[in-house]
Amino acid sequence: MVPNRPNISFLSSPSPPLFLVMCCLVLFFSIGTAEGSSDTFGITTLPFFDGFRPLFGDANCAPSMDGRGVSLLLDRFTGAGFISSDMYQHGFYSAKIKLPSNYTAGVVVAFYTSNGDVFEKTHDELDIEFLGNIRGRKWRFQTNVYGNGSTQRGREERYTLWFDPTKNFHRYSILWTPDNVIFYVDEVPIREIKKVAMGGDYPTKPMSLYATIWDASDWATSGGRYKVNYKYAPFVARFTDLSLEGCSVEPTVVKSAAAVEDICFDAVARLRSRTFSGVTSARRTAMRRFRQRYMYYYYCYDSVRYPVPLPECIAFDPIERARYHDTGRLKFGGSHKRQSRHSVDSGPVDYENSYDQADAR
Ligand SMILES: *[C@@H]1O[C@H](CO)[C@@H](O)[C@H](O)[C@H]1NC(C)=O
Ligand SMILES: *[C@@H]1O[C@H](CO)[C@@H](O)[C@H](O)[C@H]1NC(C)=O
Repeated sequence: MVPNRPNISFLSSPSPPLFLVMCCLVLFFSIGTAEGSSDTFGITTLPFFDGFRPLFGDANCAPSMDGRGVSLLLDRFTGAGFISSDMYQHGFYSAKIKLPSNYTAGVVVAFYTSNGDVFEKTHDELDIEFLGNIRGRKWRFQTNVYGNGSTQRGREERYTLWFDPTKNFHRYSILWTPDNVIFYVDEVPIREIKKVAMGGDYPTKPMSLYATIWDASDWATSGGRYKVNYKYAPFVARFTDLSLEGCSVEPTVVKSAAAVEDICFDAVARLRSRTFSGVTSARRTAMRRFRQRYMYYYYCYDSVRYPVPLPECIAFDPIERARYHDTGRLKFGGSHKRQSRHSVDSGPVDYENSYDQADAR
């Protein structure tokens, strides 16, 4: 399971309104890939029971009629989850997901890789976590990475999206190679992590894919201010067109890292040759634009939490850094469209806590 997160407290302080510049950029930058057009990756999908099995809350894990997907439900009795039947040493883990709509504060939908069951003390993990939503507000989500048991060093990044993830299925993917990790939303790379920059905290051991829905009332939405309201239950997250590409390996059988590397040589070479493994300059531009427009928390800029920066955070863009507070939070007007609706004299807005104005009944 996803380890407990430290409480991140987000402060806000006055900052110049850059939003005029930023909202103009919005007009020129087009990021989104429309649903259905995201097929240049040539992904091979597999039926649910060919690659996965229910993990918990079996009664709330409902395979779809066509066998290609599954719905995970959260009601007042339980959440639900599934896991890949195999573990993979490097891979492309991917699914189309449609999130529950309406009021979903406190509801977390997680799509992640982990080996916490096998390597308790030195586990690796790559997360995409959707953080619940108040009706009418944008869904937020975060990515995170842990390696070799680095649970004391969260590497959260938080974002909004350029579409409503409750309306249609969109593809979310985690690519993990020996050299880098890339998180994708549809075909837009949103985050890349390089092993060479991250060092010993980089994930190195076989991981399973997990997907879960659960009640995270204590931290998910606005740091726990808004709880799950079971009046709106059941909350249903739909998954379909799942994909697993990589080297299937059983770490309890093949114990040495050298043996795993040997077995996986060909599969990893295939993975590296795939379209989604190459970050073209067009994709790099799309990633930069996504991050400029939709990222609102970045651990690398959180010097309150990390007075000594983590190794991969030492090189940064000073212009980008200037848009963030020392808490890692985007400054008011830092880039987001929605913020441009606030008038200049409404003062700085703490993006996360702007839920204050929502109808949070
Ligand atoms: C949202 O929930 C409320 C209360 O249960 C319900 O009346 C409304 O129809 C729901 N809206 C949608 C779009 O499901
Ligand atoms: C992983 O962590 C352990 C301590 O928990 C350490 O001894 C080992 O060297 C680390 N491995 C890497 C690759 O950094």
